[in-house]
Amino acid sequence: MDQWQRIMEAVDFIKKNCQTVPRVGVVLGSGLGEFAEQVEAKTAIPYADIPHFKKVSVAGHAGRLVLGKVDSMPVAVLQGRYHYYEGYDIADVVFPVRVLAKLGIKSLLLTNAAGGIGRELRPGDLMVISDHINLLGVNPLRGANDERLGPRFPDMSAVYDPEFQDIIASAEEKIGLAAKKGVYLALSGPSYETPAEIRMLAALGADAVGMSTVPEAICARHMGVRVAGISCVTNLAAGISSLPLSHQEVTETAARVKNDFIRLLQRVIPRLV
Ligand code: HPA
Repeated sequence: MDQWQRIMEAVDFIKKNCQTVPRVGVVLGSGLGEFAEQVEAKTAIPYADIPHFKKVSVAGHAGRLVLGKVDSMPVAVLQGRYHYYEGYDIADVVFPVRVLAKLGIKSLLLTNAAGGIGRELRPGDLMVISDHINLLGVNPLRGANDERLGPRFPDMSAVYDPEFQDIIASAEEKIGLAAKKGVYLALSGPSYETPAEIRMLAALGADAVGMSTVPEAICARHMGVRVAGISCVTNLAAGISSLPLSHQEVTETAARVKNDFIRLLQRVIPRLV
């Protein structure tokens, strides 16, 4: 069965289980999954039930698709994502985003936990992603291109929609957060970076570093979906702080900013049209 058929089987299954036609898709990153509880009139479908979705293995990721509304905007929320470091094929990592695009989303809000490299970033900041650098070592569009999904050589000169960046930044100002924008750089992980690597990434122009988001953003743009991104800076990157890094710190910081994060998404999502 080819990729197109797998996507369509998943789409058909979801449509049979829920009438909502989502306009905005959301991917919730590590420790940020609780936003899904805010979705109104929701239908939650475990990934395990959806044809061709893989099992989720990371602590802090629930693994369900939540369909419903945020302030009357129909949404599809991926509560938990697949990471390349888990051992999945890159096509499996982006599969849920492809399914959301075929379900009908026009925009996609990607969120993640990230290490702060830029000197002005502090743990707890919600950085608006202005661009990305793909150092995952892989591109999700590698292999035969299905023209029904998108073009062979998609433009990436404005992956993170400038209008959406402004919407997020002004929403942050409205709720009293420091609206900081920056470049997100993706590595495959799962080990965190060394201080020497972080100095290299800083020289390359990265403000935040993480292990996700970029493949999903590339695929969404491939399919003509507009993209927005928010990095929750959960820690200072290796060597910027003298403290060792841990997944616990990542989830603890995400939990600390949960209320701000929820308020921000509630304000932003209805405007991502
Ligand atoms: N590095 C990579 N990924 C991350 C980090 C980090 O410091 N924090 C959260 N995800």
